[in-house]
Amino acid sequence: MRIVVIGGTGLIGSKTVAILRQAGHEVVAASPKSGVNTMTGEGLKEVMAGTQMVIDLANSPSFEDKAVLDFFQTSGRNLLAAEAAAGVRYHVALSIVAIDRTDNGYFRAKVAQEKLIQASRVPYTIVRATQFMEFLGGIADSSQDGNKVRLAPILFQPIASDDVAAMVADAAMAAPRNGIVEIAGPERAPLTDIVARYLKAIGDPREVVSDPEARYWGGRVEQHSLVPLGEARLGRIGLDEWLRRSRAAA
Ligand SMILES: NC(=O)c1ccc[n+]([C@@H]2O[C@H](COP(=O)([O-])OP(=O)(O)OC[C@H]3O[C@@H](n4cnc5c(N)ncnc54)[C@H](OP(=O)(O)O)[C@@H]3O)[C@@H](O)[C@H]2O)c1
Repeated sequence: MRIVVIGGTGLIGSKTVAILRQAGHEVVAASPKSGVNTMTGEGLKEVMAGTQMVIDLANSPSFEDKAVLDFFQTSGRNLLAAEAAAGVRYHVALSIVAIDRTDNGYFRAKVAQEKLIQASRVPYTIVRATQFMEFLGGIADSSQDGNKVRLAPILFQPIASDDVAAMVADAAMAAPRNGIVEIAGPERAPLTDIVARYLKAIGDPREVVSDPEARYWGGRVEQHSLVPLGEARLGRIGLDEWLRRSRAAA
C-alpha cells in the first residue's frame, strides 16, 4: 500500500515511517524539505497520486497562539481537500489527550485540526496521545521561574515516542474508527515528580517547585487536566527505561 506520512521527517514521523517500511509498505516521508508543504499546498496534488492512506504527523514551526492555529487550520484544509480529490481512503492523525477540556493556545489549534478531520469525507482515526517524554525538557523550560521550575502538582502520564510511533502504525493498519483512540504512558504520577526525576537524571540543577496556581502553557489546569479519563492503550516504556535508552543513545 502507498502511504504518505506528512511530517515524515519529525520525531514521531521518522519512527512511524521506519515501522511501516519494515512492514513492506511503500511509504513517502513528506515534508517541506522533500517539496511537500501543507501550508502552501506545494507538492500535495503530486504526492497524493496513487496514495491509499495519509498519516498526518506534522507540527507547527511556531507555538505562538495565532501561528499555531493558522498552521493546523490551513494545513488541515489543504491536506484534506487534496486527499478527497485524490480518493485517499484513510486519514490518520496524531492529536493530544484532553485538548477539548483543557484550555491553551496550542490545544485550541489541535481542536480545530480535529474538527476539520471530523467534517471531511475521508474515513479517519484520530490518535490522541499524552505528552511525549521527549517533551519534558520543553515543559521545564516553559515553566522556568528564575533558577526554579514552577509547576502545578497535577497528574501526568507521559509516553515515549517509540511507543507513540508503534501505536500510530497499529492504528494505520487497523480499519478507520471514524473516531478517537487514546494512548498514554505506563506510569501516572504528579507532573512535579516526573519533571524533577527527569531533571535530576540529566544532571540539570533546577529545582522543581510545586504551585497549584501554576499554569500549563498559559492555561489553568487541575488534577485530571492532562490524563485520559476513559480507556487508553498504555505504552510499555516507563520513565526510567526511557532515561536509560536516552543515555545509551547519546
Ligand atoms: N509534543 C507532545 O507531547 C505531543 C503530544 C501528543 C501529540 N503531539 C502531536 O504529535 C505531532 C508530531 O509531533 P512531533 O514532535 O513528532 O513533530 P516534530 O518532530 O516537530 O516534526 C514536525 C514535522 O512537521 C513537518 N512540517 C513542518 N511544517 C510543515 C509543513 N508546512 N508542511 C508539511 N510538513 C511540515 C516537519 O518537516 P521538516 O523536517 O521539513 O521541517 C517535520 O517533519 C504533532 O501534530 C503534535 O501536535 C505532540
